[in-house]
Amino acid sequence: MDRKKNLRGAFLVVFITTVISIIIFLTNVRTPRIFNLIPQPHGPVKLDLPEVSDQTITPLINTKHLLVSAFMDQRVTGFDIRIIGIFRRDSIQSLYCIFLCHSSPFFISNTTPTNIQQADHYDFPFTATFVMCQIPQNCDATHVALLTQPDNVKDLNQTWLPIRNKVATKKEDDFEFDFTVCVSNLFGGYNNVLQFAQTLEMYRLLGVGRVVIYNTSCGPELNRLLHSYSQEGFVEMVPWPIDKHLKPAWGWNILEHPGDVHYFGQVTTLNECMYRSMRRSRYVLLNDIDEIIMPYQHDNLTTLMDTLQPQHPNTGVFFIENHIFPKKHFEPSQRFHLPQWSGVPGINILEHVYREEPDRTAYQPYKLIVQPRMVEETSIHEMRKNFGERFKVPPEVCRIIHVRVPLQGSLTLEQLKVDKRLWDFHERMIPNVDNVLRKVGLLSSDQQK
Ligand SMILES: *[C@@H]1O[C@H](CO)[C@@H](O)[C@H](O)[C@H]1NC(C)=O
Ligand SMILES: *[C@@H]1O[C@H](CO)[C@@H](O)[C@H](O)[C@H]1NC(C)=O
Ligand SMILES: *[C@@H]1O[C@H](CO)[C@@H](O)[C@H](O)[C@H]1NC(C)=O
Repeated sequence: MDRKKNLRGAFLVVFITTVISIIIFLTNVRTPRIFNLIPQPHGPVKLDLPEVSDQTITPLINTKHLLVSAFMDQRVTGFDIRIIGIFRRDSIQSLYCIFLCHSSPFFISNTTPTNIQQADHYDFPFTATFVMCQIPQNCDATHVALLTQPDNVKDLNQTWLPIRNKVATKKEDDFEFDFTVCVSNLFGGYNNVLQFAQTLEMYRLLGVGRVVIYNTSCGPELNRLLHSYSQEGFVEMVPWPIDKHLKPAWGWNILEHPGDVHYFGQVTTLNECMYRSMRRSRYVLLNDIDEIIMPYQHDNLTTLMDTLQPQHPNTGVFFIENHIFPKKHFEPSQRFHLPQWSGVPGINILEHVYREEPDRTAYQPYKLIVQPRMVEETSIHEMRKNFGERFKVPPEVCRIIHVRVPLQGSLTLEQLKVDKRLWDFHERMIPNVDNVLRKVGLLSSDQQK
């Protein structure tokens, strides 16, 4: 009898302890609170600080602005930290950095002033913004917050951002990836699954190691495809709930697409991706998912850049010309009109081999291959601030294959150029596309046996 009671008692103790531990663990994980002692002139003050942000978009309390990420960046003299945000242009006020310093116990630094720089805003009220500041001496900073008043530590209500890219610069030939593609802003019910899968597999064949995608929303089949790619690790999905904070415009022209911020915050996401990739990727490709930066004289991007870079040793920015392949013109043999793809939503890029010659008297919307360590601030088709030189890659060496609606819609088939460069990859690309579509149950059933 007694032994049974003891057992029950022991079980109860273990059970209660476990429940309490789980509760403590969960509350700590959900809102990491940092209790700590701050050395102040009038003795230590115990503070219960607000949480560390685990979101990609964090409102800056008491302002109209949003914060995205904080990076260590000591390339511009006098600054250590670069915070990327989305700021309301008519309400920019002085801000002050404050740091959580790693030591035992943690302590909070004094505030330091900031320098605030607006990026390309395309006339929208909100714009991508950089906030730069210095870390005070003797502080091994792990987190940063922004205050609207200097030295107002006791009122510290702001969410802390972790400081990224803190690890020392790697050796030049020691990157996790050679090429990263930054795809900004998936939104609406975008469900162009076939073009997406074909393009991702083309990137892989060309030597890309990582594709970063900022996701506001997407269609159901594309969502399945992307979950599969991100599980495998080839695609890095970044949640981008910009529509929860602002009314994002569906285009770049404020007259056609009114809203708070240009194109779902594309300038912000491109820069964020570039900084995110700075320590881990030799090159970053800043292009959309319907665009393939294609070498025409080399087998892949590695051999292309191994040729271009030594020819242009001090260049960190390479402009690539955009070439439109109108989706309304189909290749007549239907050689790649494959039955197993009949049920897959989206464009089959192998069927579009007619190319517009760019009108070089008009504005050219280039896309970029950059060495992120040589770039301070990028725009979409242009470079705003970089170190070193820039080079326009000749179209016969490398150009963008961009299957979409025509740009010069009046051109007839005879006025377009036949360009079957993509077909050089069909033997490897088609089975890879089939494999990923089969994995997510989208390959047509007659081909699945
Ligand atoms: C901090 O937050 C509390 C509660 O939300 C609020 O009452 C207080 O005014 C805030 N302090 C500052 C400086 O914003
Ligand atoms: C790129 O092409 C070269 C030359 O054909 C080849 O040796 C290399 O393995 C290729 N790299 C990738 C990533 O496919
Ligand atoms: C994309 O975002 C939507 C909306 O938040 C989400 O439901 C979906 O799971 C996300 N997809 C992926 C692949 O991350």
